[in-house]
Amino acid sequence: MANQSLMVYVNNAFVPIEKAYVHIEDRGFQFADGVYEVVACFGGTFLDLKPHLERLQRSCEAVDIPLPKPMHELELLVQEAYEKNPFEDAMVYIQVTRGVAARSHLVTKKLTPTLIITVRNLPKPTDEKLHEGVKGCTLQDIRWKHCEIKSIALLASVMGKQEANKRGVDEAFWLDDEGHVLEGCATNILAIINGVLVTHPLDHQVLGGITRNMAIEVAHEAGIRVEERAWKLDESGLTECLMSSTTNAVMPICMMDGLKIGGGKPGEVGCKIRALMLKKIESLRVKKD
Ligand code: PDD
Repeated sequence: MANQSLMVYVNNAFVPIEKAYVHIEDRGFQFADGVYEVVACFGGTFLDLKPHLERLQRSCEAVDIPLPKPMHELELLVQEAYEKNPFEDAMVYIQVTRGVAARSHLVTKKLTPTLIITVRNLPKPTDEKLHEGVKGCTLQDIRWKHCEIKSIALLASVMGKQEANKRGVDEAFWLDDEGHVLEGCATNILAIINGVLVTHPLDHQVLGGITRNMAIEVAHEAGIRVEERAWKLDESGLTECLMSSTTNAVMPICMMDGLKIGGGKPGEVGCKIRALMLKKIESLRVKKD
């Protein structure tokens, strides 16, 4: 893959990324009128492709954009995109916008949705981050009230990430008006409180992360109790925090707003959950002789 051009899907064809363009009046460009997905692929096998495509379908339905292709065709296209860019570990970005039209908030005519698919190398967390954990900060939630939809309108999340970067930390986590921890700019967040895995329930304030589901699933399998409820960082018994996303699996968060979480090092329960998730991920790799 090293010196080869990335091949991307746009306007119903695969083209080298240098030649891939969308119309300037695409509503994704002018209104952020679209939805997206990010899926990971390990050694040629996708992790939870179906749940990702089902979430894409739900996002499309929620904003009334028709799914650009039937599900099975989408699945084949995503596979084909990977085969044209076969990184050992890849992340596939799928974006659907409402389509192209003269700029007007209201659309009355039927548009053809724009589908793009890109594939990139999946970045690996550094050894330092794995051993020391990541750092976070908290911010008052300034996002819209439909965070369950995976919308491409990510300005608040971009601002949050930039603020995190300014403060020298890896991720910013949104707090509701009462100080409950919701999720990160591009991650879900889970805590270990008195040995229980706690994470905000699925509602309009958080995205239903596919990796969050996987963390909950492995916790159940490992006999770790799970509670989906609102929680705060200053709760007694809170010993660990984890962030989850397709691009991270779960990563320990050891510092928040300059204060250590637990012992300030990755904790036992989080490490167990991460190890169990990695075991599942590793088992996806196509066996090569
Ligand atoms: N972000 N919450 C938000 C706001 C997100 O943007 C993401 C993912 C998640 C985790 O969802 P999942 O486990 O399904 O990846 C939670 C992707 C990776 C992104 O925007 O790049």
